[in-house]
Amino acid sequence: MTTKHLLASKVALVTGSARGIGLACATELSRAGAAVILMDKLGDMASASAQRIIDAGGRAVSIEADVCDTAKLPGLLTQAEQAFGRLDILVNNVGITIESPTEAITAGEWDKVMEINLKTVFFVTQAALPALMRRGPGGAVVNVSSIVARSGGINSTMHYAASKGGVLSLTRALAREWGPRGLRFNAVTPGPILTEMIEHWSKEKLDELVARTPVRRLGTAADVAYSVVFLASPWSEYLTGVGLDVAGGLYMS
Ligand SMILES: NC(=O)c1ccc[n+]([C@@H]2O[C@H](COP(=O)([O-])OP(=O)(O)OC[C@H]3O[C@@H](n4cnc5c(N)ncnc54)[C@H](O)[C@@H]3O)[C@@H](O)[C@H]2O)c1
Repeated sequence: MTTKHLLASKVALVTGSARGIGLACATELSRAGAAVILMDKLGDMASASAQRIIDAGGRAVSIEADVCDTAKLPGLLTQAEQAFGRLDILVNNVGITIESPTEAITAGEWDKVMEINLKTVFFVTQAALPALMRRGPGGAVVNVSSIVARSGGINSTMHYAASKGGVLSLTRALAREWGPRGLRFNAVTPGPILTEMIEHWSKEKLDELVARTPVRRLGTAADVAYSVVFLASPWSEYLTGVGLDVAGGLYMS
């Protein structure tokens, strides 16, 4: 099986895929043969990103959506399933961070981070389950957590670390419940990845992270996407409930 045909005839939905890690996941899933659905609140950017995948020879559509709108998720997932007639793979990638010292985090900031990073992972998955189960055994869900779920991360992101720890726990709980029904749940736990999320960090902070990383560089969105493709593919069919560190050895669990 070549990489190009690894996911032939599969359909994948990636949330938060207008840019960054989500876009890299959609691009690499497409390169592995899957048709991809890009879901993002940035509708124009998601549409342009889908067009780039089509221009490169892939099959892609975009859906503009705020995944926090839980009431609309069942309808959005029906729309996603209808785009290519099936759904085999879900990548829960949406996430944000709000940097705020522990003494200053507000209840509103806490709720926002938990809602976007953790609550949506559950409710997007819940809305996707009927479509994933209609395909029978072989479906795969990959959740994007973070290395801070294990390491505790840096100061000023207590709510982010807690939300990403929740994503890992949720991944394991779903893996345990749905494994017998043929659906696998895994997570990736990326270290610092050069996207808009961290581009504003100071050079000193980024240099310090590189110095502590055994492979001596920051990650790229593609680094994460290669692991997501693996976890979505039959090459990982005996893996479920796993959190795969994509962090250049920054943290070793
Ligand atoms: N960049 C890093 O260093 C890093 C490290 C570890 C984990 N992560 C995780 O990877 C994921 C992607 O991060 P990124 O760096 O690509 O971020 P990014 O900000 O570049 O991209 C996030 C995407 O999600 C979309 N989005 C945000 N909220 C949304 C919502 N409510 N509904 C629909 N779309 C929404 C945004 O429009 C954007 O396109 C996140 O879960 C993040 O926590 C990132």
